[in-house]
Amino acid sequence: MKNTIHVNTKILGLIGHPLKHSYSPFIHNVAIELKGIDYIYLPFDIPSSNLKNAFRGMISLGIRGFNVTIPHKENILQYMNNVSEESSIIGAINTVVNDLGKLSGYNTDVNGILETLNPYKEEIFGNEISVIGAGGAARAVIYTLIRYFKPSKIYLINRTEQRADALKNYFQDKMKFNSFKTKELFPPDLVDIFKNSKLVVNATSVGMFPDVDDSITELANSFTKGQIVFDLVYNPVQTNLLNLAASNGAIALSGLKMLVYQAAKSFELWTGEAMPVEQVYRSLQLFIKA
Ligand SMILES: NC(=O)c1ccc[n+]([C@@H]2O[C@H](COP(=O)([O-])OP(=O)(O)OC[C@H]3O[C@@H](n4cnc5c(N)ncnc54)[C@H](OP(=O)(O)O)[C@@H]3O)[C@@H](O)[C@H]2O)c1
Repeated sequence: MKNTIHVNTKILGLIGHPLKHSYSPFIHNVAIELKGIDYIYLPFDIPSSNLKNAFRGMISLGIRGFNVTIPHKENILQYMNNVSEESSIIGAINTVVNDLGKLSGYNTDVNGILETLNPYKEEIFGNEISVIGAGGAARAVIYTLIRYFKPSKIYLINRTEQRADALKNYFQDKMKFNSFKTKELFPPDLVDIFKNSKLVVNATSVGMFPDVDDSITELANSFTKGQIVFDLVYNPVQTNLLNLAASNGAIALSGLKMLVYQAAKSFELWTGEAMPVEQVYRSLQLFIKA
């Protein structure tokens, strides 16, 4: 880790509240070390009441960039001078770049999702897809799928069905995509929906540490061979959902790759440098196992 800080060392960081466990400081500080560049990445716990001041402080202190996590991803749009096209459609930002006081917002989750799913583009393209969840991550998933994978239908499934309905209306309006069907999570007919979806994405926090025994379905017949199941949860790396999917012959994709690739895009936006993703990914795997 970085052991020399100079007057010119540039500061990057993560803002959110409450700041729970995050791998981002590890990922970015390892990448900084590997690239030998003069940056440091720090966590900042910022409650919503202090968000505006945090951006004033960012500009005054010359902080080069922030990652943004819950609960600020949507609220911060109002403080940006520029918002990228994907952030403005998704309605959420996870990366802020400070160019001499001008703040630009990006959503690099899209890059992480694309890097994870692109190897299976042929299989996924034009097919039916299930997305479980209706939060910020689900928004990035839905945008990416509609834009790059042209699904024939998206099943939007969420514990609170009204939130799924709201998301459906939002994307019908923003992206003119009308082939949505919303469902409440847990009814038994989801087994058939999951089974008939070429891709099933879990964009909820179900199964995340410490509740690792939870899963959006425990029914083995939810999945079949040749299907792709992508769990955005990255802690643990192999969730119960992925184990269930893999045991039925489905391709099981962890959220860890998405995590590293969204970080890589943020890193590039701040530093102009490519993150050595393979090395960072391997270091992160070792860090998680330790
Ligand atoms: N791999 C990556 O790079 C990456 C990037 C971003 C996010 N993520 C992960 O994606 C997940 C969602 O993040 P987010 O930012 O979208 O969070 P969020 O905005 O808080 O949304 C949480 C979603 O999970 C659902 N949910 C929470 N607890 C549930 C439970 N016990 N049973 C059923 N549904 C439940 C919520 O349903 P309701 O609407 O009913 O509350 C909502 O749809 C998190 O695990 C996060 O770590 C991963």
